[in-house]
Amino acid sequence: MQSTRSKLIEILSSNHEDYASGQRLSELLSISRNAVWKHMKELEKDGYVIEAKPRKGYRIIKSPNKISTNTIRWGLETEWLGNEIIHKTSVGSTQLVGHEAAQNGAAHGTIIIADEQTAGRGRVQKNWDSNGDGIWMTIILRPNIPPNRASELTLLTAVAITKAIKKITNIDPLIKWPNDILIKEKKLCGILTEMQAEQDQVQYILIGTGLNVNQSNQLWDKQLQNIATSLYQETGHTFEKHTLLQQILLQFERTYNNYMEHGFQPIKQQWEANAFKIGSEIEITTFHEQWVGKFLGISDEGALLAESSDGSPVKIYSADIKWFSRPK
Ligand code: BTN
Repeated sequence: MQSTRSKLIEILSSNHEDYASGQRLSELLSISRNAVWKHMKELEKDGYVIEAKPRKGYRIIKSPNKISTNTIRWGLETEWLGNEIIHKTSVGSTQLVGHEAAQNGAAHGTIIIADEQTAGRGRVQKNWDSNGDGIWMTIILRPNIPPNRASELTLLTAVAITKAIKKITNIDPLIKWPNDILIKEKKLCGILTEMQAEQDQVQYILIGTGLNVNQSNQLWDKQLQNIATSLYQETGHTFEKHTLLQQILLQFERTYNNYMEHGFQPIKQQWEANAFKIGSEIEITTFHEQWVGKFLGISDEGALLAESSDGSPVKIYSADIKWFSRPK
């Protein structure tokens, strides 16, 4: 059941710029005006900055710099994404919590966020290092699409996160096919898409995103230091994770709505506009062959497009790609 405090924050959030009078709050929460005042004092102790004006009422000016369902909710501008928030201090993997929640009927747009992951999962059975102050999140989606279109959602997620990072930090990250977000060739964010489907219908999709935010590189081992980065390392300052998260959710919802209305085409354009090394030589290794071609972009279904030696475009759905810096 929702606590009085979180109901109070929800009401103040839906009022965002406006004041809510003590009388109205006491009616909506079925508590006395004195109890409303006491709740406000408690919120202040927790780091909320509250403005109280005679004859007008209360409003929140600022929420504390920490991740909680309440700090995410206050100021969140989405319509459906994040209406349900599951926040955990420590989990093995938010993907596991996501599978369980989805199987128990969690709604489209539910998010799972953890302060710490002890067994973060990456693509192709790799571990995901979740050390320190990053954003470890899983989004549950129930799109009405066939399973073979699920990979488009990975590309869509990269577009949305790239936009959010640009808005908050002014940095222009690049997207490396299929699912890495890079700054200066180092990995800032990884995306893991997992799906439960029947033959021709998706039951649910989990979009897991790991974004390095405030970690200094001493936190990582040597190998990771060479290939990974965080927003802190790139800008020299730390970021409020809940503000960044709210922007990610907003950009995700807008990009997803656009995809549902207009299909993959607009997403493809935005993806290519931010793509890492279009026009460069790449080495493609699949189960049965290895060859070098030119990276042309992505196809209408999100496959990587490479130009083969005879000049024809080839669609690659799954492969190891090595990127050379020199354009062909
Ligand atoms: C990759 O680049 O290999 C994908 C990494 C995905 C990591 C995120 S962190 C939140 C979610 N929970 C996990 O266990 N993995 C994803």
